Amino acid sequence: MPSLNDIRSTFTDFFARNDHRVVESSPLVPRNDPTLMFTNSGMVQFKNSFTGVETRDYKRATTAQKCVRAGGKHNDLDNVGYTARHHTFFEMLGNFSFGDYFKEQAIAFAWELLTKDFGLDKNKLLVTVYHTDDEAANFWKKIAGLPEHKIIRIASDDNFWRMGPTGPCGPCTEIFYDHGEHIWGGPPGSAEEDGDRFIEIWNNVFMQNEQFADGSLRPLEMQSIDTGMGLERIGALLQGKHDNYDTDLMRSLIEASAHATSADPDGPGKMHHRVIADHLRSTSFLIADGVMPSNEGRGYVLRRIMRRAMRHAHMLGAQDPVMHKLVPTLVRQMGAAYPELGRAQSMIEETLRLEESRFRTTLDRGLKLLDDELERIPEGGDLPGPAAFKLYDTYGFPLDLTQDALREKGRGVDVQGFETAMDEQRKKARAAWVGSGEATDANIWFELAQDKGVTEFLGYDTETAEGEVLALVRDGAQIGDAATGTNVQVMVNQTPFYAESGGQVGDTGFIRTATGLVEVTDTKKTAGVFIHLGTVIEGSILRGQAAKLEVSHARRASIQANHSVTHLLHEALRRALGEHVAQRGSLNAPERLRFDFSHSQGMTAAEIGTVEAEVNAFVRQNTAVDTRIMTPDDARALGAQALFGEKYGDEVRVVSMGQLDGSGKGSDGRTYSLELCGGTHVKRTGDIGAFVLLSESASSSGVRRIEALTGQAALDHLRAQDARLSDVATALKTHAGDVLDRVKALQDERRALANEVAQLRRELAMGGKSGGPEIKEINGVKLIAQVLSGVSGKDLPALIDEMKAQIGSGAVVLIADTGAKPAVAAGVTADMTARISAVTLVKAAAEALGGKGGGGRPDMAQAGGADIALADAAIAAVHAALEA
Ligand code: SER
Repeated sequence: MPSLNDIRSTFTDFFARNDHRVVESSPLVPRNDPTLMFTNSGMVQFKNSFTGVETRDYKRATTAQKCVRAGGKHNDLDNVGYTARHHTFFEMLGNFSFGDYFKEQAIAFAWELLTKDFGLDKNKLLVTVYHTDDEAANFWKKIAGLPEHKIIRIASDDNFWRMGPTGPCGPCTEIFYDHGEHIWGGPPGSAEEDGDRFIEIWNNVFMQNEQFADGSLRPLEMQSIDTGMGLERIGALLQGKHDNYDTDLMRSLIEASAHATSADPDGPGKMHHRVIADHLRSTSFLIADGVMPSNEGRGYVLRRIMRRAMRHAHMLGAQDPVMHKLVPTLVRQMGAAYPELGRAQSMIEETLRLEESRFRTTLDRGLKLLDDELERIPEGGDLPGPAAFKLYDTYGFPLDLTQDALREKGRGVDVQGFETAMDEQRKKARAAWVGSGEATDANIWFELAQDKGVTEFLGYDTETAEGEVLALVRDGAQIGDAATGTNVQVMVNQTPFYAESGGQVGDTGFIRTATGLVEVTDTKKTAGVFIHLGTVIEGSILRGQAAKLEVSHARRASIQANHSVTHLLHEALRRALGEHVAQRGSLNAPERLRFDFSHSQGMTAAEIGTVEAEVNAFVRQNTAVDTRIMTPDDARALGAQALFGEKYGDEVRVVSMGQLDGSGKGSDGRTYSLELCGGTHVKRTGDIGAFVLLSESASSSGVRRIEALTGQAALDHLRAQDARLSDVATALKTHAGDVLDRVKALQDERRALANEVAQLRRELAMGGKSGGPEIKEINGVKLIAQVLSGVSGKDLPALIDEMKAQIGSGAVVLIADTGAKPAVAAGVTADMTARISAVTLVKAAAEALGGKGGGGRPDMAQAGGADIALADAAIAAVHAALEA
């Protein structure tokens, strides 16, 4: 009996043999469709190849595509567990032709694979075609030899496949398997078609049209093929089972569930095991593709599925978390075909365990409340809306979980009443928010958040994505379109653009629609709405359009390098300076980073060297940067660094990087840096490239600031420093390595020369070694009064002392011609200070020089003048002062 894994490879091998490229499954979160919540068929990743917008280097492809139908238009959640063929997660096998083969070859491939490779009995197969598609009907006759009554013409949309309100579409042919008369049901198109006898196993779509929003249907330039076969269905058929949940793969998950809950897989709890098996697959694959449980958008769909599974585990009597224990079985079964599952295994287990342990605390109480409520309402009545809302709001019961619980009791929920209660709560939240004094400008974003929902951020995993333009805002008001030159703020439903927060600057890039192009110069966030600020630079853009969003990659890469290295720097500082080091602020811009931290004194050169070297060592270690979601308490228990004063929600992202190697600093395998962080990061620390610490300085009291560079900017900085050093070496006529010695030698030389010059100046000032200055005698006092050029005011006191010694008894007045404002000093020998004060003399001279004031002691005083041209008058004034 072939396993599901065998069947998957038989399918793709068959098409590979027939010149098809085996293409990997695309992620469950579609990158190229703004309207789709989850990838729900094989053609999603090829949508643009059918319309010709995108070309690939192959014209034939085959895939096994993971699909989720649990939110939005295609939603199978409610039926899962109760039926044989509903899943939230399934695999779609497909073959695709892009303008290559068409109907005839597609039908030939399908027939050959089903009847030869899969060995199905030809007589049990029948097909449907679109009622006008004679061509397809004729090929079925010619290739498969099917008689007319086994080619059923269907006039309804069942045989005209559309991916949605817009996009590629076309007539299709569906292949059915007849399980035999013993099972009730009629062929497609008959009144009994819903029975289980005739089961559709494969849909072949002849893509030949494109559906537009205005309702028009136009032919596509090329004719293509898109097929889809559910692996679980064909698997059941080939394994001789009627129920998808009896296939080997699903059965192993059901048995794992039975083992973990100690409940008989085929007993009365059978249905619960089926729910658990299905939900284990969708939740694990969604987490592996980057979806995290939350209260919005995709995250909320994930949470709903998780909690639904948990309730069913609870119904089986499980007291402890169960789901995470089943992950290894799933990875064993599907990890080879989908390696991302193995890579994310620990994250999946941790996310499931966390969600389970948190929900457990309210699940029991919520179920009790539900029972109490039911007792109070009349037999068969619906649960009132406010009660359902209380379960949602206080006990974390998604509405469909309550509905699921009531379904078993044959009861429903007053959904209208639930919505009303929900609306009232929103209104209250809004009133509270407006009252909080936020800028009124933000009002529009709060309104938009209410009307259209908050923006989903895809930028942790991708830098390009498609979104739908939900609103265009200019000057605080909504506009319907924006033409070239308009400054506009764009809101989309989902975006890869990071909005400025936590020190990381907002992304820039481009938003392109069918009619225009916006250059985005910044991205901000208000009330959960991402606001893309930009200018229309081509054509015009309209509200409601689909848009391709592209983040400027190189800039984002530099920002990420700077952000990630900030985490390494933070840890290196803590280790070098002490546990008191805490982040006080940061900036992660593309060209540089700034990091403020608490520390009371400047770092020494040695500390700076140690920190820079340690950061670079972890950059070179090049280990993967890991992100997990957990409660703030769990994160703190792990030792994660949280931002001072920051408020955290129920869940936090914990970013870890670097491995301690046991070289004295920690035990093997322990994480170096662990921080709560909502920013985007490099994939591996090696992506940072290099780290250069530029400066360390005081920022405010008790806070130091580091400025630093990474990657190319760091290398450019080092290169520029090196070039400067070479220039210096050339100017000094030496090599870079000898610059320091050369500079020291020059400094010594300069000092010696300066001393010599000072000595010479003094000698010169005193009239040379032989002569000596001219000495006058006025009123019985010996006086030297002179103008000295080439000396400064500072030099004067020493010269005065020297001349006082020379004169023995008397007064000295020296005027320094500094080239700028003159300085003057006077000295009187001790024996004469009773007769005349140096202060008097200096004041007289300074005044004559156009200066003011002057002061000192009777034996030595100094002052400044204004004009050296008045020097003679100053000397005359000194004479006059002595004569008086
Ligand atoms: N797109 C078609 C489907 O989903 C065939 O793959 O059925």
